[in-house]
Amino acid sequence: YLQLTLAILKPHIVKSPFALQKIRDLIIDNNFKVVRSRRATMSREEAELFYKEHRDKFFYNRLVTFMCSGPSDIHILTAHDAVAKWRQLMGPTKVYQAQYNAPDTIRGMFGLSDTRNATHGSDSTESAKREIAIFFKDFDTKKWYDNE
Ligand code: CMP
Repeated sequence: YLQLTLAILKPHIVKSPFALQKIRDLIIDNNFKVVRSRRATMSREEAELFYKEHRDKFFYNRLVTFMCSGPSDIHILTAHDAVAKWRQLMGPTKVYQAQYNAPDTIRGMFGLSDTRNATHGSDSTESAKREIAIFFKDFDTKKWYDNE
């Protein structure tokens, strides 16, 4: 069924016109519909809230600092099975796994490190709702899921 997912094109992608265009093409060619988009530089508060489940990880500080370092393109995408489908298109989180095992995925092509891994995608519909609420305060996800 139709799901929403939150996709973020991270700051190094927004700075790279070729990568940005290629990822936009992949979004469209894989039949995602773009429901909302904004380009914004995350505040420290937003990034800390967004990544709160990682606050005890060794990479938390570098991740938050990177995500606040410049503008990201933040999209609400929809498709059938959007959460899993976007994660499949992104490929593995870790850059060496992406480059060795999934070189044709977004992270395989454009990931620079485990932190600068090109894109983010929600890991469940519950996470998608939480994440959308952070960056699209006026978007009512309930309207999309009111028959659940
Ligand atoms: P993202 O999908 O944005 O959600 C959590 C992020 O944590 C992940 O992508 C990576 O950017 C980052 N991350 C996960 N594991 C590591 C790691 N081992 N080292 C650095 N960053 C990581």
